[in-house]
Amino acid sequence: MCELAALYHDLGRFPQYSRYKTMSDAISVNHALLSFKTLRKTKRLKGLSPKNRRLVLRAVFMHNRPELPQGLPPDLDYLARVLRDADKLDIMPVVIGMLKKAENNHGIPYLNLPSDPQKYSPHVIELLRQRKRPHISQAHWSNDYVLFICGWIYDMNFQATWRLVAKRGFLGVLFSMLPQTPDLLSLGEQITGDLALLAQGEKTPWET
Ligand SMILES: [Fe+2]
Repeated sequence: MCELAALYHDLGRFPQYSRYKTMSDAISVNHALLSFKTLRKTKRLKGLSPKNRRLVLRAVFMHNRPELPQGLPPDLDYLARVLRDADKLDIMPVVIGMLKKAENNHGIPYLNLPSDPQKYSPHVIELLRQRKRPHISQAHWSNDYVLFICGWIYDMNFQATWRLVAKRGFLGVLFSMLPQTPDLLSLGEQITGDLALLAQGEKTPWET
């Protein structure tokens, strides 16, 4: 189920791009809903039992929600969390590559955020200090978007994911792209320290 959900979760990107010539959900459609509809139409899951088919489709439908709803059935909750972690792990290096290109250019493609190397929003830092992930709509500068991605470590679910984020060094690269101000340096220390604890499977102060 996890493999199928992972394979098909962004299927809606194809019709989205073909119809709207953009991958911005904000100015087109919710691509997760489109993935759900497209996948259901393709009959690619017809070999599965109706229950498992529903599981995959529902996990695909929820993969881009800011938060998962409370009280999901345990099998769906688990599948949706695996899919969301895998998706973030996959996107992080893509975003890093995109940001590296954007450094020499202007802003981040498709987000339309202004890029000023020194600008960032204090409320985004404050949320991350409280170990809360900011919402994408709270990003006003491209640096806020970098911080938004860093905040994903507070929205991951499995030790294996944190281990891979640590092993692949994504946070170090992302923080090196931000201005080296005292508040950002201290936030970098907090998030990197939290990631190390999470990767080791340690209980963290904010979970107790
Ligand atoms: Fe997606």
